[in-house]
Amino acid sequence: MPHSQPKTALVTGAASGIGRAVVSRLGAKDIHVYAADLEAPDEPIPGAEFLHLDVRSEPDWQMVSRKIEGEHGRLDILVNNAGILREAPLVETPIEIWNQVLDVNLTGVFLGCKTMVPLLVLSDGPAIVNVASIDALRGSHGHAAYAASKGGIVSLTRALAVELSGQGIRVNAVCPGTVETPMVQEMFQAAEDPAALEAQRLSVHPLGRLSTPEEQAAAIDFLCGADASFVTGTVLSVDGGRAIR
Ligand code: NAI
Repeated sequence: MPHSQPKTALVTGAASGIGRAVVSRLGAKDIHVYAADLEAPDEPIPGAEFLHLDVRSEPDWQMVSRKIEGEHGRLDILVNNAGILREAPLVETPIEIWNQVLDVNLTGVFLGCKTMVPLLVLSDGPAIVNVASIDALRGSHGHAAYAASKGGIVSLTRALAVELSGQGIRVNAVCPGTVETPMVQEMFQAAEDPAALEAQRLSVHPLGRLSTPEEQAAAIDFLCGADASFVTGTVLSVDGGRAIR
């Protein structure tokens, strides 16, 4: 039986980059979007309600869950997008950085799925989309912690797709190539030779350019929606062909 109420979505890491584009795309439909992040976006995102959430914090997740339950009684879409990149050669990676990257990128996804499943099962078409990375599939210098966290997301996605299938929850992941976001701008700025790094990044994408956040949002929107009703456990590369080069 279709719900008469509008759908509800929760997007993490929503203040910037890919998350912001997902919020805008879902918000343009008849979906109530909770945009969760550590800090509010510089400018409000039309159609979205901001929520403070540190994805590493189980109490924060529980607070968000209580709010959504009180206001809507269920959740239809969860997009686990929050993530950080900390680059360093393996032998120069302090344990604190390793733990920080794993905490945000992987434990944050675990906590999000764990906390939101009781609200997702109340939807008539629940979907989780986890944002991994091409680094889950391809090696990259200086990305040991980041790649490990993103590989973990891919494995977690497959495990949960099976475990939650009986409750009707679809679980998929996207693996973006390099996307023009503040995270990538910072990476270029921190490089010894930003122009050389940018040229290298362009060259590894067969399409010869970087992705826009909106292209990632389109793929995530597809995986969240009814058109993907028979898609679960999929790891979708949205990478301009980088995975096959
Ligand atoms: P971004 O840096 O523009 O945005 C990330 C957002 O996550 C920020 O708003 C930040 O405040 C938030 N965030 C960080 N730690 C958080 C925490 N503990 N709790 C809640 N929110 C937190 O990054 P971008 O590029 O939009 O990345 C989004 C996702 O896409 C990340 O998971 C990233 O690893 C992934 N990705 C990005 C790629 C790229 O080239 N930009 C490539 C592949 C994957």
